[in-house]
Amino acid sequence: MQYTAMDKAELQRQKNAVTEQYDAYKAEGLALDLSRGKPSAEQLALSMPMLNLPMEKEDCIAENGFDCRNYGLPDGVPEMRRVFSEITGLPAENILIGGNSSLNLMYNTIVYSLLYGTVDSPRPWIREEKVRFLCPVPGYDRHFGICESLGIEMITVPMNADGPDMDAVEALVAADPSIKGMWNVPKYSNPTGITYSDAVVDRLAKMKTAAPDFRLFWDNAYIVHDLGNTGDSLLDIFATSKKYGTEDRVYYFTSTSKVTFPGAGVAIFAASEKNLAQIRKIINVQTIGHDKLNQLRHVKFLSDKEAVHAQMMRHAEILRRKFSIVLDTLESDLGDLGIAEWTRPVGGYFVSFDALDGCATRIYELCKNAGVTLTSVGATFPYGKDPCDKNLRLAPTFPSDTDLSKAMKVFTTAVKLASIEKLL
Ligand SMILES: Cc1ncc(COP(=O)(O)O)c(C=O)c1O
Repeated sequence: MQYTAMDKAELQRQKNAVTEQYDAYKAEGLALDLSRGKPSAEQLALSMPMLNLPMEKEDCIAENGFDCRNYGLPDGVPEMRRVFSEITGLPAENILIGGNSSLNLMYNTIVYSLLYGTVDSPRPWIREEKVRFLCPVPGYDRHFGICESLGIEMITVPMNADGPDMDAVEALVAADPSIKGMWNVPKYSNPTGITYSDAVVDRLAKMKTAAPDFRLFWDNAYIVHDLGNTGDSLLDIFATSKKYGTEDRVYYFTSTSKVTFPGAGVAIFAASEKNLAQIRKIINVQTIGHDKLNQLRHVKFLSDKEAVHAQMMRHAEILRRKFSIVLDTLESDLGDLGIAEWTRPVGGYFVSFDALDGCATRIYELCKNAGVTLTSVGATFPYGKDPCDKNLRLAPTFPSDTDLSKAMKVFTTAVKLASIEKLL
């Protein structure tokens, strides 16, 4: 029976039972963590063979003959660009290989835009009175952190099941020239796990923007991170924007952080020829080349799209188990109560959970007091403020199965208790 259909006396009875259960969990002195969107040790083990590949002198020579032990080749080794081209479907010549982190590349491209302007900016962004970015919510806290740190004002737009609310996006970018950018995690979005529909990608590519230098920050972090053999498909933003003559609006990022090792993977930035001509110049002032030996190691380990897919299916086997624990517990404990909604992603790293309005902070506190750490309340919104105080991000990947099962039981108990308190 739904909590919302219960009278006060019945709710009070439920509260007594749930409180008893909650106190029992609390007495266990747990220390569990559901907050971290990172691979488990079991997943990291999948990439250990890469570290044992031979790295003799001949292994350090790229296919174009370049000795990768030395300075140079700032665009990256050709074979790594080719693998990324196969994965992304983008032309290899539009791809620059960076260091280990795509987030770092995102931060850098925004700083470049602030300092120098983009190729089509009337002036550097920092000389504008205001620079604003559109942020679909709930979204990725580190995107919001970059904007906050660099003084870029964030405007939220709702994230729907097929991507951002495009009516809202189109109206905003058409009217306001200070809106220079928009964050996008177009496949298995962090945290909702949804993938943009073809219609949404098409509208983003063709929409009219008041700013001549508007950029889509296309963070395709979960491009190959399907939980099953076939995943969601995503329309190619480059090909689509090219069709409309808007290819300069796309800044594209991804990395192997959750394919091999976070912090020791390979990240890319891809853009139009015109954008690359400008950005290459800036990067070439910043560095004489990134870690090419790591690129070669990666290509040896994952030599083509098929090898990457096989690796991701090994990850998926582990991740399916973890997602099942989370989704089955939510369904069995909360499915009938009418107090919550959650996403059921077929890829990515997160489940997005919406409680009754005004309950997220209380759920977080109840979990914390019982020894379960959740991602901070509000983290999925700019400035850390969820206006409805209802969204929580669940990260199933890192804990062991046993810890995850226990943490989810504590979580659903906390959700019940917070909801009853709200309804009473
Ligand atoms: C959407 C999204 N983008 C980027 C990153 C970080 O990527 P990288 O490790 O390449 O910096 C993450 C990590 O969780 C993420 O969820």
